[in-house]
Amino acid sequence: MRVETAAEALSILADNDIIWCQSMAATPYKLLEGLAEIAPSRKNMTLLQLHTEHSEMLGDAALSGHLRQRAFFVGKSTREAVSEGLADYVPIFLSEIPKLFRSGEQHLDAVLIQVSAPDAHGNCSLGISVEATRAALQVAKKVIAWVNPKMPRTHGDSFVHMSRIDRYFELAQDLPLHQRPQQSKTTLRIGERVAELINDGDCLQMGIGAIPDATLGCLTHHRDLGIHTEMFSDGVLPLVTSGVINNSRKRKHRGRIVTTFAMGSQELYDFVDDNPQVAFLDVEYTNDTAVIRQNKQVMAINSALQVDLTGQVCADSIGTKVYSGVGGQMDFVRGASLSEGGRSVIALPATAAGGQISRISAMLAPGAGVVTTRAHVHYVVTEYGVANLRARSLTERAEALIHIAAPQFREQLARDACDDWGLRVKI
Ligand code: COA
Repeated sequence: MRVETAAEALSILADNDIIWCQSMAATPYKLLEGLAEIAPSRKNMTLLQLHTEHSEMLGDAALSGHLRQRAFFVGKSTREAVSEGLADYVPIFLSEIPKLFRSGEQHLDAVLIQVSAPDAHGNCSLGISVEATRAALQVAKKVIAWVNPKMPRTHGDSFVHMSRIDRYFELAQDLPLHQRPQQSKTTLRIGERVAELINDGDCLQMGIGAIPDATLGCLTHHRDLGIHTEMFSDGVLPLVTSGVINNSRKRKHRGRIVTTFAMGSQELYDFVDDNPQVAFLDVEYTNDTAVIRQNKQVMAINSALQVDLTGQVCADSIGTKVYSGVGGQMDFVRGASLSEGGRSVIALPATAAGGQISRISAMLAPGAGVVTTRAHVHYVVTEYGVANLRARSLTERAEALIHIAAPQFREQLARDACDDWGLRVKI
């Protein structure tokens, strides 16, 4: 049924409803604004989400008892609420979230989506973010939509028929853009080092941000690269245009880019619009290690907040402060390792806080969350070099990691390796 406003569309939500919200750059933020309006008249609703955008108002303490957010990935909109105890963080692999819904382990009453205008057959598209929303649509009783004619019509698992939507309102609005990050000397150097580890014919997974973009910028002379990822951004566009990324050596989905969401500029959104070369698939599938491993030479490139001298990778918290989430890092690190000729990289700047803190540290900060374990980690890259930790002893790892730490921290790290871990390292 078509209605005029977001609040009217949301009127079918009831006390105690558990709601899933489509996430990332496709966050139906107009519906979330409406949700903040109607929440005071409801009790005990829960909003499950991955990483919503423009939804800071849902962290307002005044909504306590009415609506509580439960984030499978924490971002700008939820970080403060989580750290103040006003919202919850659920650590989980991205690939597992749809399973929770489909198995009924996580009950859902409603789902909020932002979709393209329907085609001639009544199919709308979830556009630039399919992730766990397809699974949510398969189980939730109530479907509430913002139909945005500016949402790209993407191919893959993205289609939702109008008959599945209970209430919708229409509003044409440009998608919020994620401009390309500024490159610093550090990220450019890291990008160069990561690019040196990439071979012709590799099938890439990489996330958003300055390091992936810097890496992609160094691949102009590579050949026959493929993409099977959970997300991609603008950095791939020039490589698709020049034919460096042609997906020709993929065993799975040959000739197509596979992803579950995309985030970037309007140019990126125009590229994925009605483009069958890009398949937006369910994250239970894209991030399934059994699928990832079917491509050979999978190269997974991810980042971290801190790495200890044994190779434990913290990526979701700064000490006890939750910063982000587990996401698909482990799905792809493990999937890459299982693939024939596969490798993985954790790339991070050597320092934080203007050079005051070494991100390579003897031990993780108390409370830091290990996302990639020391048994899974392969290459760690900083602006100072590459440490190959695979099948290396603790002593060899500590030596390799100290060599890629910022020079001013190396002596102290070597002393700590001995004092804390009993490792006699040579630097
Ligand atoms: N101590 C203190 N502060 C630290 C720190 C440390 N060890 N490490 C990082 N920081 C600070 C940085 O200085 C930066 O602060 P600023 O925003 O004030 O500049 C902030 O924390 C974020 O660090 P940054 O390196 O800019 O993070 P990022 O945006 O590149 O994201 C991850 C890195 C690890 C958080 C991100 O890749 C992630 O969430 N990964 C987990 C999920 C995943 O890998 N998914 C698959 C790919 S989508």
